[in-house]
Amino acid sequence: MILSVHQTDPELSMPPRNKGGPKLTDEQIKTLEKWVMMGAPAPVGAGVGKLTGLSQKARDHWAFKPVVTPELPSIRNQAWAQNEIDVFVMQKLEQNGLKPNPATDGDSLLRRLTYDLHGMPPTPAESDAFARDYDAAVARDVYAMRNGQPARAASLVVERVVDRLLTSPRYGERWARHWLDTARYSDTRGNRRDIEGERFPSAWTYRDYVIEALNSDKPYDQFIIEQLAADRLPDLSKDDPRLAALGFITVGKRFDNNDDTIDERIDTTTKAFLGLTVSCSRCHDHKFDPIPAADYYSMHGIFASTIEPMQEPVIRGTRIGNAAERADFDKKMRDLVESNTRGYYRYITAQLGVIHKEFAGRALFQMAGQRSERASIFRSSISSSPSVRSMAPLISPLTRQSLARWLACVG
Ligand code: HEC
Repeated sequence: MILSVHQTDPELSMPPRNKGGPKLTDEQIKTLEKWVMMGAPAPVGAGVGKLTGLSQKARDHWAFKPVVTPELPSIRNQAWAQNEIDVFVMQKLEQNGLKPNPATDGDSLLRRLTYDLHGMPPTPAESDAFARDYDAAVARDVYAMRNGQPARAASLVVERVVDRLLTSPRYGERWARHWLDTARYSDTRGNRRDIEGERFPSAWTYRDYVIEALNSDKPYDQFIIEQLAADRLPDLSKDDPRLAALGFITVGKRFDNNDDTIDERIDTTTKAFLGLTVSCSRCHDHKFDPIPAADYYSMHGIFASTIEPMQEPVIRGTRIGNAAERADFDKKMRDLVESNTRGYYRYITAQLGVIHKEFAGRALFQMAGQRSERASIFRSSISSSPSVRSMAPLISPLTRQSLARWLACVG
């Protein structure tokens, strides 16, 4: 910094000399040099004030405002608007001197509705049936209006078809796709696709949970709670279908560094539920962001203290194959557990051998006169039965996770 304010090197000069930046005065440079000589201390009181926060301008951004029911604007063509949203559309049309398009015909109306709600075009039979009903209803409405009566027939036909589309399971499949994008849904861990172990074989249970949540009109607050903490629900059963919601946390990309995996989860969770990117505050506070690094690490703590089960529960009501497939799966699982257990036993026995040998050596050494507090610790370790738990810190290549799995296997 001191070199740059002297501006001797044009590539490294502050303020930039090649952009005509004026040089600091000698007195200013002296002050900076003195500050560096002092050890570059932070000003008294620095860091006390809150750096991170929203300016008033940012606070006025619509995203930070609570949801309100706005006043309806007044419009000239009241008759055209059939609902509140129409009123806002008409207000803008009138402001810009535009006229609304004529109402669409039955055929394209059904196409639009079916694409919106199912993501697919209607079948020819559905189109024919709707066109017949709709055209007849429009004719009835025209007749009614001529006689000064309310014209509701066409909108009733539309309501019926919307109800049919909403009731169909296709509705949840279509709209789940939007949420599954938000939840970065994936069947793999995001890298090394070719490796079997990189797949999430149970990811589909989360996908089906989201589809079902939409089809059953699950309230949004429950939808949030279950995806973040289904395992903490007070009335949870072991095979509770709501457990599948936790796929929201677990179907993301995995990294060798667990903190990166947690970062990915914080990123997904905050974008999905706050509509904010929070992961910038992983490293530093920001002048204009509402989330400080301290909050980031509060969330980090929650994810860091969350463990995934070694084996996911079999969830009630999931399609898990026929009896033969199930038996085949169970057998493969049993074989895996057995061969893993044998492997771990072999490993532990070998490690115990090494440890015993080392202890014996030390014990001999201590018996030769080097008595100390530690000697008794060693002796009690040798004489106690080989408790795996007490060995845990000694067995370094065995990760804590594999040890937990091993303990689960041997019960
Ligand atoms: C992996 C850690 C890390 C993350 C994540 C990170 N930053 Fe930074 N950021 C740094 C470091 C380190 C510096 C200081 C770099 C330097 O001075 O050379 C910095 C500097 C900055 C600066 C310059 C500050 C100044 O006063 O000059 C801005 C602005 C900034 N980051 C914004 C962001 C934004 C926005 C994000 C999210 C998109 C982000 N950072 C995410 C580590 C990070």
